[in-house]
Amino acid sequence: MKIYVSCDAAALSVGADEIAHAIAAHAGPRGIEVEIVRTGSRGMLWLEPLVEVQTAQGRIAYGPVSLEDVRDLFDADFLQGGAHPLNLGPTEQIPYFSKQQRLTFARCGITDPSSLDDYLAHGGYRGLERALSMSPADIVTAVTDAGLRGRGGAAFPAGIKWKTVLSTTAEQKYIVCNADEGDSGTFSDRMIMEGDPLVLVEGMTIAGLATGATKGYIYLRSEYPHAHRALLAAIDVARAGGYLGPDVRGSGRAFDVDVRLGAGAYICGEETSLLESLEGKRGQVRFKPPLPAISGLFGKPTVINNVITLASVPVILDQGAAHYRDFGMGRSRGTLPIQLTGNIRHGGLVELAFGTTLRELLYDFGGGSLSGRPIRAVQVGGPLGAYMPESQFDTVLDYEAFAAVGAMLGHGGIVVFDDSVDMAAQARYAMEFCAVESCGKCTPCRIGSTRGVEVIDRLVAGRDVQTQEALLRDLCDTMTHGSLCALGGLTPYPVLSALNHFPDDFSRGALVR
Ligand code: NAI
Ligand code: SF4
Repeated sequence: MKIYVSCDAAALSVGADEIAHAIAAHAGPRGIEVEIVRTGSRGMLWLEPLVEVQTAQGRIAYGPVSLEDVRDLFDADFLQGGAHPLNLGPTEQIPYFSKQQRLTFARCGITDPSSLDDYLAHGGYRGLERALSMSPADIVTAVTDAGLRGRGGAAFPAGIKWKTVLSTTAEQKYIVCNADEGDSGTFSDRMIMEGDPLVLVEGMTIAGLATGATKGYIYLRSEYPHAHRALLAAIDVARAGGYLGPDVRGSGRAFDVDVRLGAGAYICGEETSLLESLEGKRGQVRFKPPLPAISGLFGKPTVINNVITLASVPVILDQGAAHYRDFGMGRSRGTLPIQLTGNIRHGGLVELAFGTTLRELLYDFGGGSLSGRPIRAVQVGGPLGAYMPESQFDTVLDYEAFAAVGAMLGHGGIVVFDDSVDMAAQARYAMEFCAVESCGKCTPCRIGSTRGVEVIDRLVAGRDVQTQEALLRDLCDTMTHGSLCALGGLTPYPVLSALNHFPDDFSRGALVR
C-alpha cells in the first residue's frame, strides 16, 4: 500500500514528518503494510500536510491532516480512498492543481526526489539523452527557439547568454546556478530543489554540453538546509548512474556539479557578487563589462542562470522547442511558476503559461485574502517590485505588459496585502531594506537609501511635505540612473509605486515602525 507524504520544508513546518510517523505507527498494529514515499510538495500549501494514497482510481488526497485525524482516517478506510471530511478526491482533479500547466514542475510532488529510478520512470533524463545526440550549437538553438528567458528576474534570453559562452574560447568554462533565492515571497527555487533536484542537475548538464563547460556550481542560500540535502543526494545518484562525471553516459564528455553555500546576504543573488562570493571573497558587485558570459567565475566564461531557468531546459530538449514555445504570449514564452503568498487564502505554487491576469491568480487560484478583507495591493517581483493597486489587477502575466504599467514580474513572487496595509510603511520598508542590504560599492544606493528613509519619515510626519516629496522623487531618480546594480536601481519601484498609487497613506502622519 503506497502512501505519499511531502518532505518539502513547507510541509515539514506544519508537521508532515509527524504525520508520516503516525501513519506508520497506526498501520503496524492493524497488520497493514504501508510504504510511505516522501515526495516534494504539490504546491497547495494550505492543504499541507497533504497525504495521498495510491488507489485503483489514482492518487486520492487527504488534507490538511493533523495528528488527531490519523486514527479517524484509518477507521474511514482511507487507504482504499474511503469517505472522510478530509478526502479531497483525486489529487490531480483539485481545481487549483488541474487548472495549471506544469512543465517545469511536472514531477514535483509525484516522485521521490532522491530516486534516480523514479526520475527515469517519469521522463527524467530524456532531455539529456536527446542533447547528447546534438551538437552544442543545435542545443543552444533549441533553447533560443523555445523563447526561454531568465526566470531569476531579468528575463534575458537564455539562448543568447549560452551562445555568448559557446562562442568564447577558453580552456575552462563554468555553469553557475543562482540558487540564492532572496526575493521576499518566493520559493519556487526551493520547491524544485527539494521536490525534483535531478531536473536542475539535468538542466545544468545540458547547459554544460551546449557551451563546453565541464564544471557546474550551485550557489545555494544557507537558509535552505533541506534543499541542500536534497541536492547532495541527487548529485550522488546522478554520479552513480553515470549522468555526471568524466564520461557522461559514455559520451566521452565530462560534466560535474558541486554545491556551495552562501552566507545570507541578499546582494549575493546579484550575479557578479555571487561570483565574488563563490571565489571566496566578500560578496560585492563587480563592474560590467566584462559580462560573466565572457569573464565570469575565476575569470572564465560562465553561464549564470537561475534555478528555474535551468530546470526548464530538460523539457525543452525532451519535448522540443516548439512545444515549449506554444505556451505563453508575446515575447514571454513557456510557463512561469508563480508563488502566491502573504494575505491570501490559498497560498502556494501555480505553474501557468504567461498570459493569465493577476486577478485570476488572486481570486480563482488564491481565493481572495486570508483575512476576508478586500485586497488593496500586491507586490510582484520581490522587495524591488512595484506595489500594484486594484486598478492594475487585470494586467496579464507577461514581462512587457508588466513593464508597461511600471511594474516587473521578476521571479514570479506575489505578496498580497488587504486594506489594513499602510503603504507609506511599505515604502519606508523598501528603502530600509536597500540600506540594510546595500553592498556599499556605489553612492546612490549606499547613501541614497539611508537618506531616503529619513525623507520618507519627514514626509509622513507632515514636515514640509511638498519639498520632501520632491526630494524623494529626485533621490529615486538618482538611484534609478546612478546605481551600479538592481538593488539600488530598482528600490524606487516599490517606493514610488506606493507614493503614486496610495498618496493618502503618506499624509496620515501615522507611520508604523
Ligand atoms: P541584467 O539585465 O543586467 O542582466 C541580465 C542577464 O543577462 C545577466 O546574467 C547578464 O550577465 C546577461 N547578459 C546581458 N547581455 C548579455 C549578452 N550579450 N550575452 C550574454 N549574457 C548577457 O540584470 P541583472 O542585474 O542580472 O538582474 C536584475 C534582476 O534580478 C531584476 O530584474 C530582479 O528582478 C532580479 N532579482 C532577482 C532576485 C531573486 O531572488 N531571484 C533577487 C534580486 C533581484
Ligand atoms: Fe552595491 Fe547598492 Fe551599488 Fe548595487 S546599487 S553595487 S548593492 S551599493
